[in-house]
Amino acid sequence: MLSLEENELLTNTDPGTPMGELFRRFWIPVALSEEVPGPDSDPVRIKILGEDLIVFKDSEGRVGLVDAYCPHRGAPMFFGRNEESGLRCVYHGWKFDVDGACTDLPNAPEGETFKNKVKIAAYPCVEGGGLILAFMGPKDKQPPVPDFEWLDLPPSHFYTKKFRLECNWLQAQEGDFDPSHVRFLHSTLDNNSSNPGNRVSGLNLGIASGREYYGYYSMEETDTGMLFSSVQEMSSGKISVSVLPWMMPAFCVPGTAGLQMFSSNMRIPIDNTSMMFFRLRWSREPIPENELREYKQGGYVFPEMIPGTWKTAANVFNSYQIDRVAQRNYNYTGIKAFPLQDIAMMEDQWGPLADRRKEHLTSADEGIIRIRRRLIRTVRNLMEGIEPQEPWHPEGFRANRARMVLPAGSNILEAVAKAKAAALSRTVPSGMLIV
Ligand code: FES
Ligand SMILES: [Fe+2]
Repeated sequence: MLSLEENELLTNTDPGTPMGELFRRFWIPVALSEEVPGPDSDPVRIKILGEDLIVFKDSEGRVGLVDAYCPHRGAPMFFGRNEESGLRCVYHGWKFDVDGACTDLPNAPEGETFKNKVKIAAYPCVEGGGLILAFMGPKDKQPPVPDFEWLDLPPSHFYTKKFRLECNWLQAQEGDFDPSHVRFLHSTLDNNSSNPGNRVSGLNLGIASGREYYGYYSMEETDTGMLFSSVQEMSSGKISVSVLPWMMPAFCVPGTAGLQMFSSNMRIPIDNTSMMFFRLRWSREPIPENELREYKQGGYVFPEMIPGTWKTAANVFNSYQIDRVAQRNYNYTGIKAFPLQDIAMMEDQWGPLADRRKEHLTSADEGIIRIRRRLIRTVRNLMEGIEPQEPWHPEGFRANRARMVLPAGSNILEAVAKAKAAALSRTVPSGMLIV
């Protein structure tokens, strides 16, 4: 449960708000590379953190992210001519480069000198992993680009998409650190945990309460966020240890991708009641053909889209095309695509912007509580002029999911320590699974 003031603090990311400022201290994804495929590509409208922006690539292939409105008389830059190393407003011909400098002001005699005084708001960008990342904060607070391993991979090694969600960023992120939902929401009737016949004992060996426990085994803070460890006893008696990192402000590395595949979920506010969900799968090897086919056509890991939009075909406006027959007979939710099962729960938690005063959290929700606490602390510090240190640890964004399976009777503390070291290591072998 959060107070009204705390809830507002974490969910309002408009320009000038404390959380809005915190987001603006980090490099964040703003668009897909495929939206600006090459030099002089068409200008594209995006909205990030409540700001209307245009993304484009200039003649040299440099990415530009500028204000959606021309500083002369506010005409939409979307209609601009993208030519000869800059974007020209079609109203009176003023032209700007990717750094926001006015390079031509042709409609007035004083233009030659006046252009040096005119700028369009522009944010620096980098490209990698199928994403355009931008830094939208003050110039003198610009940190190094985070050391995400996927930033340097060739296109054969990643698959990246984005979906627009009709809810606040925080309720979507919190779903990734809600370990107790998985065996309900994402289950089928024969493996779900509501069925007493399917209960597994000792699910989390950290707690010996006689009841199943779905929470984390341990949680701890890192330079850039937190690490969450889970320990489970498998039916074979082997012990499975997994470590999930969260990196500030909105980078999650969920634990559901396959053995050689890593996954990254990023939730970036469009405004306070809608957000863009950037979803990345990547590997240190080229992604196998069959896996790629599943991503592109399977409709399970990456849901089917409405062509020409960033909306999934099954969405909040059609109740995610819930199939009640499937729900009665096979699938726990009746919702087909894996991420849509989550999204159906996230987009409407007392509406698109949850009032967290109404919650009743339990020990299984402790991961969510810890992340809120860390964010509240950091954002309150920033309000007092204490800058966050997280963006200044680029190596800390290298954290990956790590999972190990150990023989029955293994020393759990040692195993967790090993998995944590692996999650933070820059050199985790691809075949992380040790049996
Ligand atoms: S409004 Fe853009 S050049 Fe006049
Ligand atoms: Fe989920």
